[in-house]
Amino acid sequence: MVTINENYLKLKTGYLFPEIGRRVSTFAAANPDAPIIKLGIGDVTEPLPEACRAAMITAVQDMGDRATFKGYGPEQGYLWLREKIAQHDFQARGCDVSAEEIFVSDGSKCDCSNILDIFGDDNTIAVTDPVYPVYVDTNVMAGHTGPAQDDGKYEGLTYLPITADNDFTAQIPSHKVDLIYLCFPNNPTGAVASKAHLQAWVDYALAHGSLIFFDAAYEAYITDEAIPHSIYEIPGARDCAIEFRSFSKNAGFTGTRCALTVVPKTLTVKASDGTDVALHSLWNRRQATKFNGVSYVVQRGAEAVYSEAGQAQIQALISFYMANAQIIRDQLSAAGITTYGGVNAPYVWVKTPHDLSSWDFFDKLLGTCHVVGTPGSGFGAAGEGYFRISAFNSRENVENAMARITAKFSA
Ligand code: MLT
Repeated sequence: MVTINENYLKLKTGYLFPEIGRRVSTFAAANPDAPIIKLGIGDVTEPLPEACRAAMITAVQDMGDRATFKGYGPEQGYLWLREKIAQHDFQARGCDVSAEEIFVSDGSKCDCSNILDIFGDDNTIAVTDPVYPVYVDTNVMAGHTGPAQDDGKYEGLTYLPITADNDFTAQIPSHKVDLIYLCFPNNPTGAVASKAHLQAWVDYALAHGSLIFFDAAYEAYITDEAIPHSIYEIPGARDCAIEFRSFSKNAGFTGTRCALTVVPKTLTVKASDGTDVALHSLWNRRQATKFNGVSYVVQRGAEAVYSEAGQAQIQALISFYMANAQIIRDQLSAAGITTYGGVNAPYVWVKTPHDLSSWDFFDKLLGTCHVVGTPGSGFGAAGEGYFRISAFNSRENVENAMARITAKFSA
């Protein structure tokens, strides 16, 4: 008899963004003339930077010539890309990260799920609440949790509230957890972590033999110079942290697909027989077996991000989206609606007006303003009463959406 992975049956509903998509499609089918503006999923809208496109076109030409054609590439990514990443993203910030410690991949969502392959099933796991749902759902799928409880939390996970009361910083647990997921700048709240806060996490991890999964997918949006872009800016992090990064949000690669994971060679975990095992070797083994690398053409596009033109063009993209974030914050605040985030991140975290529940606000916004956002409760119980608005859209759509919202809602 065929059996299934019954852990999937524990998952509460569909993954958040498809569920939103389903509701929006139902609404659009019933209201075909409604001019819907989507500020829900954090998907970029502006074209790929010219430098990336030009590099990809040249790479396509390379593929058309026997002399420059590329078949399978290295599973870890081409060294010319890994060297640029190491230099620009890490060494330039004083981080001790070498090219060989960087694994190029097709996405941070995939990497932060796949990384569980190299860990045991008996680790205790901490996530923030609210949280990027992938961290939770992939642990449910892997059988690392019990069933969902009435409040939507899964048995066996440690939830670390990040709320206005603690200034949206992840409170360090009083007990030991093995694996900790941190995302800063934070999805969904748009909050950032100071050096002191990350140092406290690194100190905790080193003291308890824990490992931090640090998701830095939004680091390019940091505007405050005092805020660290990488966990490796924190002394000790090489011995307790893996970092995920992406070209999706900085260079508009959500549809092009390119990301990276840093696994320091110094990072070891004890096997059950007491021997030290390097996580770098395990991840390398995992990737070499299950992954054939990112396409040559896409890696050439990613490499162009680090050219002078590429840097200027991605900076322009980031500034464009951050100006959207400022419009969202300013307009909602002027209407008396409380907002957080949106200063060092492309997400604005909004307190729902009139104490509406997150999904009630979602339905009202869609029904009356034809604007789509993301209900805070979809990111976890502590997100109830909040709503995430993404700054990824055209200027015109953001301005129209804010005009519609502020005409209907004010606190
Ligand atoms: C989000 O909207 O939270 C992100 O787009 C999801 C993702 O990057 O996978």
